[in-house]
Amino acid sequence: MKKPTIYSSRITGTGSVFPKRVMTNEDIAKIVDTNDEWIRERTGIRERRVSEPGNPEETNSAMSSRAALLALEMAGRRPEEVDLILHATCTPDTLVPSASSYIQHRIGARNAGAVDLNAACSGFVYALTTADMFIRAGQKKCVLVIGAEVLSSYINWKDRGSCILFGDGAGAVVVERTEFENPSRIYSSHLGADGQFTDLIQCPAGGSRLPITPEILADSSNKITLKGREVFKVAVKTLADYAVEALEANGFGLSDLDWFIPHQANLRIIEAVANRLEFPLEKTLVNIDRYGNTSAATIPTMLDEAVRDGRVRPGNLLVMDVFGAGLTYGSVCLRW
Ligand code: ACO
Repeated sequence: MKKPTIYSSRITGTGSVFPKRVMTNEDIAKIVDTNDEWIRERTGIRERRVSEPGNPEETNSAMSSRAALLALEMAGRRPEEVDLILHATCTPDTLVPSASSYIQHRIGARNAGAVDLNAACSGFVYALTTADMFIRAGQKKCVLVIGAEVLSSYINWKDRGSCILFGDGAGAVVVERTEFENPSRIYSSHLGADGQFTDLIQCPAGGSRLPITPEILADSSNKITLKGREVFKVAVKTLADYAVEALEANGFGLSDLDWFIPHQANLRIIEAVANRLEFPLEKTLVNIDRYGNTSAATIPTMLDEAVRDGRVRPGNLLVMDVFGAGLTYGSVCLRW
């Protein structure tokens, strides 16, 4: 019998797109009782991008499609060469069909399967892991992995504790088959969840459990609610643990790491994790100041920026590290 071939996967292209409208902290202070200083000091956020409601170019799938085409262009691939689209999002255009179907049609990826995945802010790492598994198993050669959100549709603009945090955007990567021996590849991924914390970040109503009624619309319980202090504590510990796990699984230490790419929920969380790991903040990618928390879009948009401006270079060792509603967790270790 022929010996099975062992494959690996690597990211060959990245792309990102944000809505045009910049919403500053001062803009939010006109809506709720807050101010720029409080938001900057407590979160690190200066501004975020917000999609224009009803603008067909700023829907989740429209921004994702543009990000995907940019990633394909960098990879030197045509849409017809994509054999699977994995779209990480918790804010799709419509519940049915999935946003990935709109994306597949819009970019002309006519040979690709298409599905949405929801692991909230951890979604991109879950989708990237799934792409890696399909490629390693020899089932797929070229997978488009997207992380995109229009969280602004789910913000309760009366709740100052949460409305300051979120932003919209879309990031995409092309993941392709490579030889197992290629040093430039995804080394490992580590996924986890703890469902005892479902109440820490949620849209309590508006799903099948509590369908929309006039009362629900009036009390905004279909919008995001969060217990920020509790999330903060769990986030610092799990981000630090998952970063170490990703490195140790491959025999690396923190001194081998070129870029730490953590989820951007609060700059103080990122600083606390860097502190706990004793890892320099200068080697940690940060974009929360300009975009806020863009959930599943955070990692791919931040990666795209760092690849295009030359911070992330061939041979660099990277760890992506996330947590999100669920709670869900995950990390990926790869060499660029
Ligand atoms: N402006 C001014 N004051 C505010 C604001 C605001 N926007 N928001 C809260 N406050 C007040 C509170 O009312 C409270 O006042 P009180 O002491 O008189 O009661 C005070 O500030 C402190 O409130 P806390 O909620 O304890 O503030 P904290 O320092 O914890 O910051 C924050 C809140 C920013 C939400 C923080 O807890 C956080 O970032 N948590 C983690 C982020 C998170 O939960 N993200 C979820 C996103 S999903 C994901 O990415 C996984």
